[in-house]
Amino acid sequence: LMVDKGNHRHFMAKEIHEQPEVVGHTLARYIDFTGETTKLPEDLPFDWTKLSRVVICACGTAYLAGLVAKYWFERYARLPVDIDIASEFRYREMPLDKGGLAIMISQSGETADTLAALRYCKGEGQTVASVVNVPESTIARESHVVFPTVAGPEIGVASTKAFTCQLTVLACLALAAGRARGVLSPDDEKTLVHALAEVPRLMAAALRVEPQIEALAKTLAKAPDALYLGRGTSYPLALEGALKLKEISYIHAEGYAAGELKHGPIALIDETMPVIVIAPHDQIFDKTVSNMQEVAARGGRIILITDAKGAEAATVDAAETIVMPSMPATVTPLVYALPIQLLAYHTAVFMGTDVDQPRNLAKSVTVE
Ligand code: G6P
Repeated sequence: LMVDKGNHRHFMAKEIHEQPEVVGHTLARYIDFTGETTKLPEDLPFDWTKLSRVVICACGTAYLAGLVAKYWFERYARLPVDIDIASEFRYREMPLDKGGLAIMISQSGETADTLAALRYCKGEGQTVASVVNVPESTIARESHVVFPTVAGPEIGVASTKAFTCQLTVLACLALAAGRARGVLSPDDEKTLVHALAEVPRLMAAALRVEPQIEALAKTLAKAPDALYLGRGTSYPLALEGALKLKEISYIHAEGYAAGELKHGPIALIDETMPVIVIAPHDQIFDKTVSNMQEVAARGGRIILITDAKGAEAATVDAAETIVMPSMPATVTPLVYALPIQLLAYHTAVFMGTDVDQPRNLAKSVTVE
């Protein structure tokens, strides 16, 4: 299969810019735009109403997509989620009640630890569903049901479009579960489906901050470390931001739940420490603002990613504010992923690393 970079300097840039399109393709597969509902296969091998919890396993960026999905399943379907990194889960021998649902998330569908976790779950009598980007992969073949992402081939080692397509599929699964379990009314479902349908357009708007981020990356490239903070679904995004930066720029970065700042990372804050805060103007925005004040009081350099309302309401001096379009809270992880990816990308380009093939990393990890 031949894939080229088109007009882009790297596959990663191409894949970041493809997101409005491939998320659109993925939505088309899981949403019935006329009926304004989610659309899943009718012959699912499990029943949402009979589940008492779901297990999710994955590695790397796919794991972080699962962490976002935990918030969604719990909120929209009142379905508790146990999520773990596959390499921990597989050796933990977690007791599982027969008839449960386990969801594996994997771009390649070949990650050894995720495959081992899948086999453990099957052995424990779970129905296994997988969210994969390669339908003919081992994980897909060994699953009872496959929910493909429609991201197209992802070449850059650091995952970008596969991540947002995984989020798209998982959001649709959470809404379908919520509807089936009677947590969401038909009207609730309609509202949330509309919000998802807007994501490609919102992503295209989000990409317009690229020149600002490119300029910002020049400063970030000089930092030895960076801290990413977020709450709610912005917390997994903070982890993803830190992961992306480490992977391709080799700058040490940590992602933290904003509320956990005072339990450790606050000790690191001084004038040299860039703190990237992901804070859409949602219900917990004010809580994140108080964390930013704690950072500001110690001279930390805040890079705030928010929307127009958040930019106005943030009573703190940010060194830089990146303004996203406004959107319902449900879809912020999908759209805010883009400035996070762009920041890592441009920092790496500025530093001259091998963006598509970062040192020591592999696209698909088939060893344990
Ligand atoms: C590797 C890749 C990551 C990816 C992870 C999981 O570490 O470099 O980008 O997130 O594997 O891969 P998978 O194919 O299972 O999603």
